[in-house]
Amino acid sequence: MWDFFETVRHRHSVRRFRSDMPVEREKLHAVLEMASAAPSAGDLQAYRIVIVSSDEGRRTLSRVAGDQTFLAETSACLVFCADPLRSATQYGERGRELYAVQDATIAATYAQLATVAAGLGSTWVGSFDEKALVEGLKLEASLRPVAILAVGYPAEWPDPTPRRHLDEMVEYR
Ligand SMILES: Cc1cc2nc3c(=O)[nH]c(=O)nc-3n(C[C@H](O)[C@H](O)[C@H](O)COP(=O)(O)O)c2cc1C
Repeated sequence: MWDFFETVRHRHSVRRFRSDMPVEREKLHAVLEMASAAPSAGDLQAYRIVIVSSDEGRRTLSRVAGDQTFLAETSACLVFCADPLRSATQYGERGRELYAVQDATIAATYAQLATVAAGLGSTWVGSFDEKALVEGLKLEASLRPVAILAVGYPAEWPDPTPRRHLDEMVEYR
């Protein structure tokens, strides 16, 4: 088992997956439990996670994401949706506009790191037509999809990509 720092360093976007090795239900469950462990505003967990494993569902995701074909070739896609109405009950405008999106995004981040620890690969996909996704998967109209995680056993081991120097992004006051 990798420690946290190794897990973070080993996460790279994987876009080619083993077609002969579907993700086991137990592994997916473990990943979802880690998503659920993420912090959320007021502990409301104002998000919904939609698991898409059918061929048709993954093809729909591929289509609404501008034909990103690897979405149709993964074992499962996890669609993280903000639930603005849930956050708004307690936090009004700020919950609706910001906290629900943050809750869903943090949960997706935890899930992505958990895939690495579980020996899986994933890519975060943010480029998609929100409205077409909601309609295509017949989701509740009030949900706002914020990220698709394509998850599966890797069939490639991409090299790390360079990062900006910390000095460019970090300020001390
Ligand atoms: C908000 C967001 C949106 C992204 N959208 C896409 C996408 O639509 N398609 C894709 O292939 N990768 C997408 N990515 C993955 C990035 O391209 C990738 O994380 C980045 O190039 C760094 O590479 P790494 O993940 O291997 O470290 C997205 C990542 C984030 C955080």
